[in-house]
Amino acid sequence: MTGNIKVNKGLAGVITDDTSVSKVMAETNSLTYRGYAVQDLCEKCSWEEVAFLMVNEELPSSKKLADFIEKEKGYRNISKDLLDIIHKFPKAAHPMDTLRTCVSYLGMEDKRIWDNSLVTNMDKYIQMLAKIPTIISATYRCKKGKKIIAPRNDLTASENFFNMCFGKIPGKEVIKAFDVSLILYAEHSFNASTFASRVITSTTSDIYSAICGGIGALKGPLHGGANEQVMHMLKEIGEVKNAKKWILDALAKKKKIMGFGHRVYRSGDSRVPTMTKYAEKMASITGGEKWIQISNILKDTMIKEKNIYPNLDFPAGPAYYMMGFDIDMFTPLFVMSRITGWTAHIMEQTADNRIIRPLSDYIGSAQRKVLSIEERKAGKV
Ligand code: COA
Repeated sequence: MTGNIKVNKGLAGVITDDTSVSKVMAETNSLTYRGYAVQDLCEKCSWEEVAFLMVNEELPSSKKLADFIEKEKGYRNISKDLLDIIHKFPKAAHPMDTLRTCVSYLGMEDKRIWDNSLVTNMDKYIQMLAKIPTIISATYRCKKGKKIIAPRNDLTASENFFNMCFGKIPGKEVIKAFDVSLILYAEHSFNASTFASRVITSTTSDIYSAICGGIGALKGPLHGGANEQVMHMLKEIGEVKNAKKWILDALAKKKKIMGFGHRVYRSGDSRVPTMTKYAEKMASITGGEKWIQISNILKDTMIKEKNIYPNLDFPAGPAYYMMGFDIDMFTPLFVMSRITGWTAHIMEQTADNRIIRPLSDYIGSAQRKVLSIEERKAGKV
């Protein structure tokens, strides 16, 4: 508060627009996409159906789904020019940075860049949905000095992604757990990256620029980057016996514990129970039970000491680790999913647009005079 003006730091509690994409209900720890409970979507729908729902507002008929999937499969290849660029990226670059650059390049390759019509944006969306997994896996293999594996169109999106990364397709349980993670990560109302995408869209810029802005915002450890930090933390703790002391020490030092807390949820994140169930399945398949045991100690201690609950990144981080992904791929996996929510919001913003331009409360110097050169030379300020 300065003077009579109340500033909502971080836009906390500020409603900036209407949306019909998703509803976050903190009071009941629940979340719906287009009116469907996210848990139901996880158990009863494929990732492809949710990717359709997000931008089309309805679940697809079997014919519409088949057409959507066929189109997505047809767009999985990326250009030779983009592959050449991927080969030239610095090996130490973070995959979120390389992904941001690649999406920007997709925009440069698209002759329809300034066409923001719904029909064209729908096509651009399916292109990005199809190409982002190819970009992520190609970057991963290139970084490891391995031969890039081309996409296959006889596989589902997730099966194809695992095959492009690792040259093999895991069992059904792993694919299901991965699909569930994508469904849970797909959308979450006016979070920072979605809002960034909407701000960019509000200037009537193009969808690729808005997605690049979303990627930039998601990268931060307070947002999507938290899933990577969670796994770094679990690895630093290392063993179950270290967990309690580690977390108590961290709290005593007033450290932020990654994967905990949320701006909207105050007593638990609606997505955590489902993701935890699938992380536990991954642990029993891969022998990674210690990650679950360490996580449980951290969770119980955080709730007891701080009354702060885990968010989705807390179980998603170790689940991705147990699926075999390198830690720096976790946030790009989030992008593979959130492209759906971002696009739904970009379309919503485009359909009923007004430039987003808030105000600020100025607290700098009072207006003052610029002295003449002579006065300043004489040492006056
Ligand atoms: N570890 C330790 N303390 C935390 C915490 C965490 N993960 N999250 C919140 N707190 C503390 C804050 O420091 C603050 O303490 P203070 O009042 O003494 O300053 C208090 O809880 C209230 O914070 P809150 O207003 O809820 O935070 P926020 O809405 O500004 O920020 C997050 C929300 C998500 C950015 C924040 O909880 C956080 O940084 N979490 C860790 C990163 C993370 O997991 N991000 C993914 C989010 S889905």
